[in-house]
Amino acid sequence: MGTAIVTGGASGIGLATVVLLARAGRKVGIADRNADQLASVCAELQAQGLAVFAVPLDVTDRAGCAAAMAEVEATQGAISTVVTCAGIAAVSRIGDEANAAGWDREIAINLTGTYNIIAGAIAQLKASPSASVVTISSVVGMRSGFAEVGYAASKGGVLALTRQLARELAAFDIRVNCVAPGYVATPMLAGGAGDVQDWMDIHTPMKRLGRSEEIAEAIAFLTTDAASYITGAVLPVDGGYLCV
Ligand code: NAI
Repeated sequence: MGTAIVTGGASGIGLATVVLLARAGRKVGIADRNADQLASVCAELQAQGLAVFAVPLDVTDRAGCAAAMAEVEATQGAISTVVTCAGIAAVSRIGDEANAAGWDREIAINLTGTYNIIAGAIAQLKASPSASVVTISSVVGMRSGFAEVGYAASKGGVLALTRQLARELAAFDIRVNCVAPGYVATPMLAGGAGDVQDWMDIHTPMKRLGRSEEIAEAIAFLTTDAASYITGAVLPVDGGYLCV
């Protein structure tokens, strides 16, 4: 297996995914824009003997993503797995110009950023004998959530991108799947709007937040040969949010 890249790997779901993949023996590049957090996470995991390395980047910078992926190939070996966890949740209400920047940032990071990193690695993925991409949408991409029009639209876009790429890239033996988490206890949610436990009680049959590790298990599975006939799939990991 080649090198794995996890964007947003310095925190939350991305970090839990980095740990799982590295513990399974993968060499993992932690790609994140938060340089301080990236350095400390990387040092901590390396001290545990895990084969991780830092890839400082901002997923909104398409040329920067391409350059970073080329550098990974040159210094760490060709990439065969990409997991796109980098994302933000901002307040973005329609008609509220003060919050219009939220829409722009969510589309730029969550949707275009997903495209950018996959595009940056695509030549290496095509050259790999069996490659996989796992994108991260959200239940909010399929069912409405808090007041987040930009977030919902960006995550719905990730679903469409995933299906389209699965179709286009199957010829290159690249599987492309999507995990759609429900509400998960991470730093992102801590900054979010509303009373989350109330929301859980009403909308989630399991009546609790997910843990990053529970999402990472699904992501890791989709990267392995155990999922060799799965492509274009959307796997909700949501405590039942979507079945209500
Ligand atoms: P988090 O805030 O803990 O981690 C996100 C990471 O992405 C951070 O390390 C941050 O520095 C990085 N990042 C943000 N913008 C970036 C950029 N432009 N370039 C490079 N790195 C960037 O968030 P969490 O909760 O782990 O979220 C991970 C993914 O899961 C996101 O796509 C999020 O939308 C999605 N998700 C999270 C849910 C939750 O309830 N926490 C629910 C559903 C989906």
